[in-house]
Amino acid sequence: MIWILQKKRYSKKSANLLMVENQDIKMKSIQLTSYNKNIIRAMLGLKLVEKEVGKPGDNEVLVKMHASPCNPSDIAFIQGTYNIVKSLPVVPGFEGSGVVVEAGENAKYLIGKKISAFVQSDSEGTWAEYFVVNLNDLIVLQDEMDLDQAACFTVNPFTAFGLLEIALLRESKAIIQNAAGGQVAAIVRKMAYENGIEVIDIVRKKESVELLESQGAKHVLIEDEENFQEKLASISLNLRANIAFDAVGGNLSGSMLNALIPDAELVVYGGLSGKPIENIDVMGPIFQNKIISGFNLIDWKADLEDDEFEKISEHLQNKFISGDYETVIQGSTTLENTVKGLRDYITNMSAGKILIRP
Ligand SMILES: NC(=O)c1ccc[n+]([C@@H]2O[C@H](COP(=O)([O-])OP(=O)(O)OC[C@H]3O[C@@H](n4cnc5c(N)ncnc54)[C@H](OP(=O)(O)O)[C@@H]3O)[C@@H](O)[C@H]2O)c1
Repeated sequence: MIWILQKKRYSKKSANLLMVENQDIKMKSIQLTSYNKNIIRAMLGLKLVEKEVGKPGDNEVLVKMHASPCNPSDIAFIQGTYNIVKSLPVVPGFEGSGVVVEAGENAKYLIGKKISAFVQSDSEGTWAEYFVVNLNDLIVLQDEMDLDQAACFTVNPFTAFGLLEIALLRESKAIIQNAAGGQVAAIVRKMAYENGIEVIDIVRKKESVELLESQGAKHVLIEDEENFQEKLASISLNLRANIAFDAVGGNLSGSMLNALIPDAELVVYGGLSGKPIENIDVMGPIFQNKIISGFNLIDWKADLEDDEFEKISEHLQNKFISGDYETVIQGSTTLENTVKGLRDYITNMSAGKILIRP
């Protein structure tokens, strides 16, 4: 008996109960069959398949997926260029939201709870009607939390929080960030303004300037505009920018580090250009005490004290519930139309996330 047939006979409400009783039911999912650096060919390696719903282990839960985004890390993953490479075939998707419908021995108390998940282990991901997630990789949500926003909650808001912490520790008056039309950057900007920190945003398209300015951004530069380096250095000096958040790499990394005031730090947290860091004026590290560091969410989370993550999560959820913070969602797609959804997303990433819905 398969899930698709059952769906015709049972209401959504009874489906949860059914899950507990019948482990043989099947679900629709996306399956990655091969990695390919060429993104178009990589997408051809994505198939819609029907497979058995996973069974949660003792410390795991089974989640009925509500929505799952496509992030730059998912794109890099299907290209085989991410730092996580799983055995194939596998269900892709690192993030998602939903409701717990079944749980292992140590997680029964979560049945019926709304959760947000970040699935990175060498197991199936979130682009499926159901996914299994370990207790350590999920966030139990407040009832008021919107499940679309929750689909994009476990990674970017915490990354923005971790990045802003660095600026606060360095008592920054101003920061520079690239990929400024992206969702991490949007939350960083909000957090920076809340803390009285000026933001110099760098984008690569004219449309993004208008978009950011309509959202309240005050200093937006386009990376290939005339006299870019001089303008960046001049604003940075005026505002005393001592931190730059780099999600791009390549020439832009050097441009940002060179523009910062002495005793500054370039924090690299993404490599969207696919290029190594370039263009650094050697005088900066030698005579001006400028440094380069890296940030990744997993290590940041591992360094937190006991209940610190819970407190940050509660704070961030409150911000999302109140509407102070938001992940912009440009649209959604079905599992069947995932490839089209991915294409729309990579064509205009600054327009917001595309959610995959079962
Ligand atoms: N280290 C960590 O722990 C961590 C955690 C979360 C995210 N990240 C990284 O943070 C970055 C941003 O993620 P996100 O979710 O905020 O992205 P997003 O919302 O999907 O937006 C991506 C942004 O990057 C821009 N962009 C893409 N390729 C670019 C390039 N080659 N040069 C310049 N700009 C480019 C896009 O502009 P267009 O509209 O012009 O394409 C868009 O504004 C990614 O690299 C992601 O992997 C890292």
